[in-house]
Amino acid sequence: MITALVPGSFDPPTNGHLDIIERCAGLFDRVVVAVANNPAKSPLFGAAERVALLEECCTRWDNVSARSFDGLLVEVVRRVGADVIVKGLRAVTDFEYELQLAQMNRHLSGTVTLFIPTNAEFGYLSSSLVKEVASFGGAIEGLVPPNVARALKERLADER
Ligand code: PNS
Repeated sequence: MITALVPGSFDPPTNGHLDIIERCAGLFDRVVVAVANNPAKSPLFGAAERVALLEECCTRWDNVSARSFDGLLVEVVRRVGADVIVKGLRAVTDFEYELQLAQMNRHLSGTVTLFIPTNAEFGYLSSSLVKEVASFGGAIEGLVPPNVARALKERLADER
């Protein structure tokens, strides 16, 4: 039984994230999506909201679950008994930082990080850009799942 941990901020989850989660669901026995609860980053959605959005998006895969975490990622790896950490890579620019994280996590716990290249269709996609486009009233359909698009519109309307 191989368990993969897919960590991230997911503020909010995008179709790029779901593409990586989908591929993990096909490759591994169990997939745990780990949502970093990092209030210092002032997320638009609280950690519990991001977990709920991901759970709604992931009901089609019965081996995928989501949870939030505080503190070090390697502690979650230990708590859930994950075998590998999986991260998506959009471009070379992601690689430098992700390599640093992967090597630190390896140093801290011996856990291996595997990288999955994102589908080229989503290469330009990021949660920050989606929030920016949505905040100016741009179309976000096709970039995020429908439940996330709804939640984003509601949250941004509340903030106005
Ligand atoms: O969506 P992101 O911003 O790529 O996610 C980055 C995240 C949350 C996976 C990373 O910052 C992280 O693992 N944070 C937890 C704190 C930690 O373990 N820091 C040391 C990692 S080397």
